[in-house]
Amino acid sequence: MPSEISERPVVVTGGGNGIGAALAEEAIRRGASAVVVADIELAAATEVAERIVAAGGQATAHQCDVADPNAVDALAEEIVASHGVPGVVFANAGVMAPTSALLDVPAADIEWLLGVNVRGVIHTLQSFGRRMAASETGGWLMATASEHALGVPHIFGAPYTASKHAVLGACDVLRGELPEHVGVSVLCPGLTTSQLWNSTSTRPDRFGGSSSGDPGTGDFMESSGMDADVVARRAFDGAEAGHFMIPTHYNARAYAAKRAAEIEAAFDRLAEIDTADYDVGTLAAELMARLEAESKENGT
Ligand SMILES: NC(=O)c1ccc[n+]([C@@H]2O[C@H](COP(=O)([O-])OP(=O)(O)OC[C@H]3O[C@@H](n4cnc5c(N)ncnc54)[C@H](O)[C@@H]3O)[C@@H](O)[C@H]2O)c1
Repeated sequence: MPSEISERPVVVTGGGNGIGAALAEEAIRRGASAVVVADIELAAATEVAERIVAAGGQATAHQCDVADPNAVDALAEEIVASHGVPGVVFANAGVMAPTSALLDVPAADIEWLLGVNVRGVIHTLQSFGRRMAASETGGWLMATASEHALGVPHIFGAPYTASKHAVLGACDVLRGELPEHVGVSVLCPGLTTSQLWNSTSTRPDRFGGSSSGDPGTGDFMESSGMDADVVARRAFDGAEAGHFMIPTHYNARAYAAKRAAEIEAAFDRLAEIDTADYDVGTLAAELMARLEAESKENGT
């Protein structure tokens, strides 16, 4: 990510707390001309924006529920009109449902969580990514996944884990589709001090409404989590170096290696049966090239 990108306006969803608030403050330290702090909770976003302004930076607060594609697109429209195309957009908003074995998770919690963590991230990447792609200046997108996308098991957090794999998968495909002047990274933090334990406090009524999270989980995150400022610094360092995958907690490596070894072992077993099938990557590239040639021929 070149400095002319990070010095342009930066947008952070879920910017009212935790990692998002730290990203917003770090953006200013890295030279962003302004920060747009977007959150479902306007009061939280306002507090962060006011803190940035008090420290001499430019910031505005915006209420936006990322699960609503129209709201995200309206935010993107408004920001482009007021600030121009942002340089960096963090699709960071995410929630954690109350811990529960998968067999017992209420359907409404699954809807809520996937709506914010998966669809919300995709809406944000689309609404801002389209505008970056269409601009001459381009930009950088960063989605917050988790170390749980890399193989760290999150017992009693299956929908959350699934949502973070989805974020990684979407970004992995997106990086092959974006034009050269738009970059993408996926941030994969481990345990970080934040309000994530209390996500149900912002759960909309249609998914069961607001309730307090488990304070014991809050104490655990507070006492064992990495400081969100450190996560934010690693996020910027990674993007500035042009990295796609940005883990923040070294101890996740052993879990990722264990998963990689499990995949290798599965293919070793398959190799004993049959190795003579097709390479889907080559087939897909051939298909795309054919479709592109056909559409050029048809002038579409
Ligand atoms: N804290 C951790 O240990 C940890 C680890 C890995 C990944 N993450 C991820 O980091 C991201 C930030 O979480 P955090 O830990 O800072 O939690 P947090 O709860 O402190 O901050 C999340 C913010 O998102 C906002 N939000 C919730 N629903 C929203 C919606 N529908 N639209 C817009 N904003 C919404 C909340 O109001 C809150 O301000 C999330 O995607 C989370 O899954 C967190």
